[in-house]
Amino acid sequence: MSKAIHTAQQYWDVRSDLFANYYKKPSTFDKLLRKAVYLRTAVALKTIQEYPDCTILDIGSGPGVNSVSWLKNSKASHLLGIDFAENMNEYARKNAAEQGVGSRCEFIEGDFRTFDFGGRKFDVNVAVGVFDYTEDAASFIKKMSETTNKAFVISYPENGLRMFLRRKRYTCPVYDYSEDSIRSLHSLCDIKKLEIVRSQGGWVSVAR
Ligand SMILES: C[S@@+](CC[C@H](N)C(=O)[O-])C[C@H]1O[C@@H](n2cnc3c(N)ncnc32)[C@H](O)[C@@H]1O
Repeated sequence: MSKAIHTAQQYWDVRSDLFANYYKKPSTFDKLLRKAVYLRTAVALKTIQEYPDCTILDIGSGPGVNSVSWLKNSKASHLLGIDFAENMNEYARKNAAEQGVGSRCEFIEGDFRTFDFGGRKFDVNVAVGVFDYTEDAASFIKKMSETTNKAFVISYPENGLRMFLRRKRYTCPVYDYSEDSIRSLHSLCDIKKLEIVRSQGGWVSVAR
């Protein structure tokens, strides 16, 4: 069983370089066994590209490598990243400035579940690599739906050997999903269309 002695916030606050390097300097291991990380980024980008001038909410934006890639490869007008691990936000702000998109984005410290957006909505909401650490996925997805104008994208890990090994390795709790549980979660949301894409060790959903 997992030695779940840390919260997800504590776990990720000391891993900004590690996670950024999955994208920036992928090892052979990453390329072979972290295909889901790259697929979910690509699915989110494709969705963002469908809505020129869109605003994006990147929930659990981490080191912001995805955020920068989405801005550089789309006509999105603005991206707000929210992450409760402040070291991740510091990395993201620096990285966005270095990559020349600092004026099109902002990274704030906060827990999406409790953050008060004051009625603000975003055209595309993305939470990739986040439901893995989300205990109450139902209230999380409902809030995502309520703060989205056009589409929201989420990734999910499945149960199995890889999840078993993650639970041994990770020091924070990790949660798994099935295609049925993903459909049930979306039944709580006011959406017209749901697309579920299979990935290595999980799924990515696009709800419109
Ligand atoms: C595995 S990283 C993924 C980072 C980024 N989305 C990516 O795919 O490159 C997960 C991030 O989600 C953040 N996170 C998890 N739950 C969160 C929540 N409820 N509110 C804000 N950030 C959260 C963690 O701090 C961490 O930085």
